Amino acid sequence: MSASRGLVDPSFLWRKLHSLSGIVPIGAFLAEHFWSNAYLLVGHARYDTVGQDLQTIPFRLAIEALVIWLPLLYHSLYGFYIWYRGQSNVVQYPWVGNWMYTLQRWTGLIAFFFILWHVYTTRVITAGRSNFSTVQHDMASNLYVAFYIIGVLAASTHLGVGIWNFLCKWGIAATVRSQRAAGFLGVAVGLIFSLAGLAIVAGARYDWHPFGSYVQ
Ligand code: HEM
Repeated sequence: MSASRGLVDPSFLWRKLHSLSGIVPIGAFLAEHFWSNAYLLVGHARYDTVGQDLQTIPFRLAIEALVIWLPLLYHSLYGFYIWYRGQSNVVQYPWVGNWMYTLQRWTGLIAFFFILWHVYTTRVITAGRSNFSTVQHDMASNLYVAFYIIGVLAASTHLGVGIWNFLCKWGIAATVRSQRAAGFLGVAVGLIFSLAGLAIVAGARYDWHPFGSYVQ
């Protein structure tokens, strides 16, 4: 199809879908995932109740496939393709330079391998029944903790840079000023996710429950 005949180039649509999928559903799922795991900071029992609620949702596999696995698979594979093709939408914003482009790609790569390992260890090995004690058992290993720290920081940074990229690309942040504001929003999201993720890792590793007093 040719754009000159008034039709949309299909790769434009695939690219738009890739971009959107990073925010919804994948970015939204990452927020939900951090949120539900943050219950670990309240206590074992609360964490296990939230986990059980999620593990017993009707049509679990179908919903997970539609909302998480397929979009994530598409976003990852098309992300590698974009990287391979060397396409960039970022360099046109000179005030950040090229390193955001590089950061976006490398954090995506790290997140990809982290997610594969994370799904294998928390979902496949536990047959979908992970709970506080399985998480705590994993977190007794220094190697696991190190990989979690790297994975959490990579996914959080990727989302933060991605939000900025998305807002600029979709024309939501069109002026230099709004692009700068979008950059600040991206940094804030990246930092908040990083801190929340590290707190959850620390909670599991050290049996740390700073919100334990919430439970009556
Ligand atoms: C933690 C899961 C992930 C989240 C929340 C996420 C989120 C995002 C977001 C919000 C964007 C910005 C969309 C845009 O460019 O307009 C993005 C872009 C990108 N993502 Fe991901 N992503 C994730 C995993 C991955 C993985 C595993 C890869 C594999 C390499 C990847 C590769 C990319 C690439 C290459 C871009 C830049 C696309 C471009 O410049 O047009 N992402 N991601």
